[in-house]
Amino acid sequence: MKKSIGPKKIKIAVFISGKGSNLKNLIKFSKFKKYPFSIKLIISSSNNAIGLKYSKKYKITKKIINYDKKIKTDKIILQILNQKKIKLICLAGFMKILSNNFIKRFKGKIVNIHPSLLPKYKGLNTHARAIKNKDKFAGCTVHYVTSKLDSGKIILQERVKISKKDTPFSLAKKILKKEHLIYPAAIKKILN
Ligand code: GAR
Repeated sequence: MKKSIGPKKIKIAVFISGKGSNLKNLIKFSKFKKYPFSIKLIISSSNNAIGLKYSKKYKITKKIINYDKKIKTDKIILQILNQKKIKLICLAGFMKILSNNFIKRFKGKIVNIHPSLLPKYKGLNTHARAIKNKDKFAGCTVHYVTSKLDSGKIILQERVKISKKDTPFSLAKKILKKEHLIYPAAIKKILN
């Protein structure tokens, strides 16, 4: 695929809390001409998030935010988003809940990737719950973020078969591969 050279790209921010494999993957896709976005900001809810290393590697501004101070937090983030002219926020393994006020201020411009076939298994431990319920399929969903947890309009979804041997760990690994396919595709879909 061709690397991007000139055309204007939409500036996005990626919010993380952990490993950041989705972040890394989005950075990779953002370099391709066909994908109309560029990652200009990484926000992390933790100082220890492994994914923060991609800030240094790819020279992307990072900001670590203490989410326990809600009201102040919103103000700080909104300011940075403004400064950086961010038009879309992508939550990628972001394990904090955004305030209603923040979601309102950025209405329709926040998306999330969730490791289940929503509306099934909102919240945590999705893989273990799917296995425990003997589901045949699991998967991942990219959706808009609203004030109701994991409930906004679905943009893209991909499924994987659950085998008898699957553990939450092996299933998470299988699903993550699909996440890396649908997240860039979903962003492209909404921006085009
Ligand atoms: C991903 O599986 C993502 O779907 C999930 O966390 C993982 C982060 O991986 N997100 C949630 O559970 C949000 N509720 P990554 O840090 O390697 O991108």
